[in-house]
Amino acid sequence: MRYLTIALTKGRLAKKTLDLFRKVGIAADGADDKDTRKLIFTNEELGVRFFLAKGPDVPTYVAYGAADIGIVGRDTILEEGRQIYEVLDLGYGKCRMCICGPESAREKLNSGEQIRVATKYPNIAKEYFLNRRHQTVEIIKLNGSIELAPIVGLSEVICDIVETGTTLRENGLTVLEEVCPLSARVVVNQVSMKMENERITALITSLKNALNE
Ligand code: PRP
Repeated sequence: MRYLTIALTKGRLAKKTLDLFRKVGIAADGADDKDTRKLIFTNEELGVRFFLAKGPDVPTYVAYGAADIGIVGRDTILEEGRQIYEVLDLGYGKCRMCICGPESAREKLNSGEQIRVATKYPNIAKEYFLNRRHQTVEIIKLNGSIELAPIVGLSEVICDIVETGTTLRENGLTVLEEVCPLSARVVVNQVSMKMENERITALITSLKNALNE
């Protein structure tokens, strides 16, 4: 039997996802061992293997068919814009993509003057300002700690993920607008969906049932 290969996002989503797979009887022994340097975990009996990748790489593995299935945040799916099927909302990893800044930036945001937007998600930010706000902005790509940008004067606002709101609060920033809600999703390679339809459909159904329990 051909292995069904599943790409997981390293970090916060991985543990919840491995718990969910365990619940539906697909264990990947060792995958949640923090000390391991192993990259791939195989369940020989079921013909399933898992690997852990950086979030933005998960849609890439799935689009090329190196993974049949991927578990990744909707933020990453939108940002990467790959040709993949999004088949299930897992309901966890819930957060929001927002435009944030100091309260004083609200006026600038609505004034129509050219503002700078710092973000780890340039495509999402571009799409939002161009198509939804019909506004030209300068996008500045950063790789983390985005909240710093308006504090030190790199940008007027940021486009970033808000989960609990603690990071914003502790840094004197606030949500100015919501771009979209986010959560963990299951994505599938378009060819695998045809070739492995039976196995993938059965897996999606059991994940769905486990979520509803
Ligand atoms: C994310 C996000 C915010 C924070 C939001 O960053 O970019 O900074 O979490 O969470 P909160 O609303 O619960 O405070 P992450 O911790 O992933 O690290 P990063 O800054 O390196 O992107």
